[in-house]
Amino acid sequence: MHLIDQIKAKAKSNLRTIVLPESYDERMLYAAQKITEQGLAKIIILGDPAVIQAAATAMGVSLTGVELLEPKSSPKLREYVDAFVELRKAKGMTPDQAEKILTSPDNLYYAGMMVRRGDAAGQVAGATGTTGNVLKAAFQTVGPAPGIKTVSSYFFMITKNPAFGEKGIILFADCAVNPNPDAQALAEIAVATARNCKAFLDVEARVAMLSFSTRGSSSHPDINKVTQAMAIARRIDPTIIMDGELQADAALLPSVGDKKAPGSPVAGKANVLIFPDLDAANIGYKLVERVAGAEAVGPIIQGLAKPVNDLSRGCSVEDIVNVTAITAVQAQG
Ligand SMILES: CC(C)(COP(=O)(O)OP(=O)(O)OC[C@H]1O[C@@H](n2cnc3c(N)ncnc32)[C@H](O)[C@@H]1OP(=O)(O)O)[C@@H](O)C(=O)NCCC(=O)NCCS
Repeated sequence: MHLIDQIKAKAKSNLRTIVLPESYDERMLYAAQKITEQGLAKIIILGDPAVIQAAATAMGVSLTGVELLEPKSSPKLREYVDAFVELRKAKGMTPDQAEKILTSPDNLYYAGMMVRRGDAAGQVAGATGTTGNVLKAAFQTVGPAPGIKTVSSYFFMITKNPAFGEKGIILFADCAVNPNPDAQALAEIAVATARNCKAFLDVEARVAMLSFSTRGSSSHPDINKVTQAMAIARRIDPTIIMDGELQADAALLPSVGDKKAPGSPVAGKANVLIFPDLDAANIGYKLVERVAGAEAVGPIIQGLAKPVNDLSRGCSVEDIVNVTAITAVQAQG
């Protein structure tokens, strides 16, 4: 079964409520109908119900079973304002500012507070909002999970060659959030991605900490960062199978892995690739997607206390449906 079909089946088995703040983007309304019809999640759409309903009718979309909620007239607004002021008090947040932010037309902060307060299990946004705006709202409302400082992201790269990774699937991180992770951040990215490999694919992660060097073949401060990250990750979770620093060919190809990193538990069979920075990771996933024809599912945000996922502004309705199913599965814990 295709990975997305497996994820959809899991989402259906234990229904979660997902909030879609961007009702003003018509793709969201088409997606809400599909998600509800397919039974993937319960959907709440934020905005003026009369405006949303009129748009849906004009588009021929049925919103039966979808809850429409207007932040500025919601009975929960006061409670959310107070909670947001408390969260941001060190930054000098006032009730007036909080109310303005929580009723801003993009609805991102209101949706985030719904997730934080348990009135929705997860959020999907970014069809209109930029990645930066979606992430900043999530950092400030939902916040990182306990013990996590660095929120990050990963992609499932579904390649055409089942010899790679896990029957052709490899997790790539962090391709979307942290431009220059330090060793601690890189370690947290590795640990979080390894845990998601287990959670979604049901197999032990074999994590390669990537570099332009394999096991000391070069020396450079950038390599030291990767080896330090591995040491930190091992302290955070000694049960994770990981190795580094490794070059990508040593990580993925048994013939090269055997030569460059003999005896490694990861070389030649990595199913999780941790890139040293956002340049390498973002360029890497796009090359594998475009040149090798792999399917890229993500970015999936990890490390938040509750799930919020970001869409590409060029996303299709199907992308929104898929990311909502992924978010619903994350929300199942
Ligand atoms: C994620 C991103 C928006 C954060 O931007 P930033 O300039 O660091 O944001 P700020 O400095 O305004 O920080 C906002 C808050 O988020 C927190 N934060 C920033 N990055 C964080 C992270 N990775 N994990 C947890 N918290 C984070 C900051 O500590 C800050 O908290 P505070 O307001 O309580 O002090 C930025 O790193 C970014 O643009 N990343 C690249 C995204 C991108 O363009 N990807 C393209 C590929 S899809």
